[in-house]
Amino acid sequence: MNACIRAVVRTAIAYNIKVSGIRHGFDGMIRGEYIPLDSASVSNIIHRGGTILKTARSSEFMTDTGMLKAKENLKRNNIDAVVAIGGDGTFRGAVEFNRKFGFPFIGIPGTIDNDLYGTDYTLGFDTAVNTTLEAIDRIKDTAAAHDRLFFIEVMGRDTGYIALWTGIAGGAEEILLPETKTDISKMIEILRKRKERGKSTIVIVAEGDDAGGALEIAQKVKSEVSGLESRVTILGHLQRGGRPTCFDRILACRFGVAAVEALLNGVSDKMVGLINNKVSFIDLQKAATTKEPLDTDLIRFTKILS
Ligand code: F6P
Repeated sequence: MNACIRAVVRTAIAYNIKVSGIRHGFDGMIRGEYIPLDSASVSNIIHRGGTILKTARSSEFMTDTGMLKAKENLKRNNIDAVVAIGGDGTFRGAVEFNRKFGFPFIGIPGTIDNDLYGTDYTLGFDTAVNTTLEAIDRIKDTAAAHDRLFFIEVMGRDTGYIALWTGIAGGAEEILLPETKTDISKMIEILRKRKERGKSTIVIVAEGDDAGGALEIAQKVKSEVSGLESRVTILGHLQRGGRPTCFDRILACRFGVAAVEALLNGVSDKMVGLINNKVSFIDLQKAATTKEPLDTDLIRFTKILS
């Protein structure tokens, strides 16, 4: 997100437009947290994870009074358009605000979950999967040395993108996704056979899997097969933040420049995305409300490659 904020600020300045940062998202828009940004204020942030502008979930923005306050504050601070980095919740808020007040918004997809429709990649996904993969590779060494079974829980409350990608790239034996039905008995059979053959096993569990999180699943396995010892690692929030990958930084630059140039060309109410390596735009409304399905080919591969 920092790399993207930098790109938005510097592009606007290049076109002689003044820029303000709104701290804490929609909440800050309501509370008046506007800070002028110049080129120097975004120096030295391209390599830092997170956001210098901070973020917050805002229930107040979804109320009429909250939106009215936000609108008055935008006017008071001479803001003509907003570039909003976020996920479907952010975009739903922006669409509603634009519908009410006709205020121009461009959305930039920013979530490690990669679950937004209208873009092949969201900001942060590449960094998150590479961080997750590094952890999986390390755990694999221990699993192999001890011939052990490991359940590794990765983020993805509603979607299995991180689990699918890191599971395939990490050579996991089983990958449990919210999008597919988990057959625990079938999995236990596979785990039992591997144990008999003295093999180590890695099972990647998306936190939102229908059979539960990694701890719950490990418990179920333990209660069904005595002697099938396992270890559980929940990677949690270490998958967020940290030094962004080169891919994410370039993506952030492409999105940031495209968002400002789109607004200058009178485009509004769109999300900028990357489709087949080309920057493209789709309706914010569509991005906010359409579910991005997992790649069925990748799901098929998991059975062939494990
Ligand atoms: O951004 C989505 C996500 O990464 C989910 O995969 C995860 O469940 C959630 O965020 C965690 O959110 P929080 O930091 O609010 O616990």
